[in-house]
Amino acid sequence: MSLTPTKDDKFSFGLWTIGYNGADPFGGPTRPALDVVHVVDKLAEIGAYGLTFHDDDLFAFGSTDAERQTQIDRLKGALDDTGLIVPMATTNLFSAPVFKDGGLTSNDRDVRRYALRKLLRNLDLAAELGAKTYVAWGGREGAEYDSAKDIRVALERYKEAFNFLGQYVLDKGYDIRFAIEPKPNEPRGDILLPTVGHALAFINELDHPELVGLNPEVGHEQMAGLNFQAGIAQALWHGKLYHIDLNGQRGIKYDQDLVFGHGDLHNAFALVDLLENGGPNGGPAYDGPRHFDYKPSRTEDETGVWDSAKANIQTYLLLKERAKAFRNDPEVQEALEAAKVNELAVPTLNEGETVADLVADRSAFEDFDTDAYYGGKGFGFVRLQQLATEHLLGAR
Ligand code: GCO
Ligand code: MN
Ligand code: MN
Repeated sequence: MSLTPTKDDKFSFGLWTIGYNGADPFGGPTRPALDVVHVVDKLAEIGAYGLTFHDDDLFAFGSTDAERQTQIDRLKGALDDTGLIVPMATTNLFSAPVFKDGGLTSNDRDVRRYALRKLLRNLDLAAELGAKTYVAWGGREGAEYDSAKDIRVALERYKEAFNFLGQYVLDKGYDIRFAIEPKPNEPRGDILLPTVGHALAFINELDHPELVGLNPEVGHEQMAGLNFQAGIAQALWHGKLYHIDLNGQRGIKYDQDLVFGHGDLHNAFALVDLLENGGPNGGPAYDGPRHFDYKPSRTEDETGVWDSAKANIQTYLLLKERAKAFRNDPEVQEALEAAKVNELAVPTLNEGETVADLVADRSAFEDFDTDAYYGGKGFGFVRLQQLATEHLLGAR
């Protein structure tokens, strides 16, 4: 089965994803670098609508102003030719040796000031290219040794940076919001703001929390053993799902960046169901880019790169189609009813009910038959999960 993506599906890819040359900590590149114009052409061909990038993906760290401008102009030309857009951009504050102890939270103040300048420069470019989201992944903002980093003070510096950047965006009148990308570890032993929950709490401490949301990544939450779909549901509940990094991960290990769905497929199904059908009246709960942050495996040649890029799109569209079938199945609707899934939407207290009213309600306590829950009717959650599995496997 093959499904055709359209620009309305909002599929986007990082330049560093398909551009990944296969280098890892144990071996050098297995593929040549890809040119940005070629990447944009190919992305348009496979049905993507957007390209995202770090400054250093487009023009190498240390480029002269002229080299930088040449690459920007080449990108703009390719965007004009294909109609692709840049929905998101970000800064590389982790590859250059200067960032070995982080950028915005390095112990070295001069490095922090340099990091802010590098960030401002690419933020200006992001605005010029029309990006609406600026991702902040603090890959090296962390430590290996407890004595080496004062975490409370590091968070203070992180806050200082986001307050400064928020004010900058307001002063410039940019239509841009920041999206923090949590990750528990790698490359640092421990990274600041390791999970969705940590980042949500941090955002509340900022001067302009409305300008800062999240860019959660499937694999990053799963590296911490967490349920990604549940994390996304909470981010949505807080109104903080500004962007999303889709990929695959198999359990608690190094960041695998597999193709979306090539990890925990059940959770990917639940995620797509949430994003596409979890909104008001059963519509989408999220209308931003469906951004793939994966790495074509080191074993692949360029054909494998584009096959894997298409695999992300196909898997997403298949899951979307399967989730629709799941929602439309009368047996599923009946199982949801039996499992009281919809009853959770009914407030626990009656409108205007007081403590005295609740205490006076004998049916709530004195006459409530708790014994009926032992040996009585179950919820049937397993039946529901099996129905989801059968839809996922295309058996229904
Ligand atoms: C990773 C991260 C990065 C970020 C990227 C954008 O684990 O390497 O996911 O790929 O998403 O740097 O900020
Ligand atoms: Mn990752
Ligand atoms: Mn990512």
